[in-house]
Amino acid sequence: CRASEGKPVKQRLLVVANRLPVSAVRRGEDSWSLDISAGGLVSALLGVRDVDAKWIGWAGVNVPDEVGQRALTKALAEKRCIPVFLDEEIVHQYYNGYCNNILWPLFHYLGLPQEDRLATTRSFQSQFDAYKRANQMFADVVNEHYEEGDVVWCHDYHLMFLPKCLKDFNGKMKVGWFLHTPFPSSEIHRTLPSRSELLKSVLAADLVGFHTYDYARHFVSACTRILGLEGTPEGVEDQGKLTRVAAFPIGIDSDRFKRALELPAVKVHINELTQRFAGRKVMLGVDRLDMIKGIPQKILAFEKFLEENPEWRDKVVLLQIAVPTRTDVPEYQKLTSQVHEIVGRINGRFGTLTAVPIHHLDRSLDFHALCALYAVTDVALVTSLRDGMNLVSYEFVACQGAKKGVLILSEFAGAAQSLGAGALLVNPWNVTEVAKSIAYALNMPSDEREKRHRHNYAHVTTHTAQDWAETFVSELNDTVVEAQLRTRQ
Ligand code: G6P
Repeated sequence: CRASEGKPVKQRLLVVANRLPVSAVRRGEDSWSLDISAGGLVSALLGVRDVDAKWIGWAGVNVPDEVGQRALTKALAEKRCIPVFLDEEIVHQYYNGYCNNILWPLFHYLGLPQEDRLATTRSFQSQFDAYKRANQMFADVVNEHYEEGDVVWCHDYHLMFLPKCLKDFNGKMKVGWFLHTPFPSSEIHRTLPSRSELLKSVLAADLVGFHTYDYARHFVSACTRILGLEGTPEGVEDQGKLTRVAAFPIGIDSDRFKRALELPAVKVHINELTQRFAGRKVMLGVDRLDMIKGIPQKILAFEKFLEENPEWRDKVVLLQIAVPTRTDVPEYQKLTSQVHEIVGRINGRFGTLTAVPIHHLDRSLDFHALCALYAVTDVALVTSLRDGMNLVSYEFVACQGAKKGVLILSEFAGAAQSLGAGALLVNPWNVTEVAKSIAYALNMPSDEREKRHRHNYAHVTTHTAQDWAETFVSELNDTVVEAQLRTRQ
């Protein structure tokens, strides 16, 4: 807190992310209805103590007219949100194109576009130009709302150009940048045509954060190998200017899940599900329908398990919630049909007149339904091919206080570094290994289940999203103070 006329003034925090934590639906020329997403990141950032936080981002809708923009801006202000308006063309080139067809797959080790994705890459340069333009549009909104002393916290791969735009505007701004995806090995990052420009602009930030120490190390190596800069234990140094680089593993608001499980409506739901699946073990997958989540590989592993363990065929069900995402990107459309095809084949092969082995839903669930589902699950399958952290694994653990189910977790998810001792770690590409782990999990003795659960539960309930956000903001403040002291010496 700063002091003003004897009264403490809360530290102002401007959170900048591609997406605002709301979904906005237009109800009339000048009226909007807003649905606040109460996800972990939102409660973490809005719950940081002694901070007055505002969120700047895209509302996810095209609002071409001024009347609509004014009305939406006003409605969002009540939710402490400030919109950045992006038109359809820029969304196509920046969000669908550069962010989700280039950076996202590359950072998850799926490489740059090849073959059919190449067609979209011919416009690589124009997509990168749109990316920079979009980042500048975010910067313009930040600059308009910035007050001296504010902390500006930029999020994710959509906004790698933002730290530079902000520092060009005001070198004294306290700027942090946090990546929610993996940062890949420098050998992967090297293939990106705009590799240097992106690294340099991220380095304009005072503090750069990642979920794991490995991602931070990859970033520092990319800066030393590609830019020829010096990596130090503190971060990256360029002509005496230090950018601090560190790991800040995110968590969840575990109390919110625990509280939900006490609600009568959720208890009713739990009972319904328990009856519905009586006599069968419940396995659960909850993922955005994204190629990094390894959904086809997971389902193939389940098929292998059923093939090799016929005694389990009518005693287990896999519930796969696949939340549609980025549906304008062709790669995601292809994935949807691929998953449907595999699920249909397996249900045809192992289903009976009264039951199917896989329930696949292409939609999201509301929070309470999700908590109930986590609570009745015996084995959760989180088999991402790569994942920055993966908070589904945390949410499952938080809801398993009573059941103490098993978590099968990809070794390529950031969460493997924190929940590795409690989970069964697997290589998601190895369908045989995952099938064996499913068998092991379903047959696991209760004392082993309890021991593993206890480990994970202790971690999830003590490393919360709020601690994560508070640590980052306080480190950012300290970093800036230390830098000022260094320049004075
Ligand atoms: C990942 C990214 C987030 C993004 C989310 C949903 O978790 O790290 O920045 O918001 O996916 O994707 P979407 O493209 O719908 O915003």
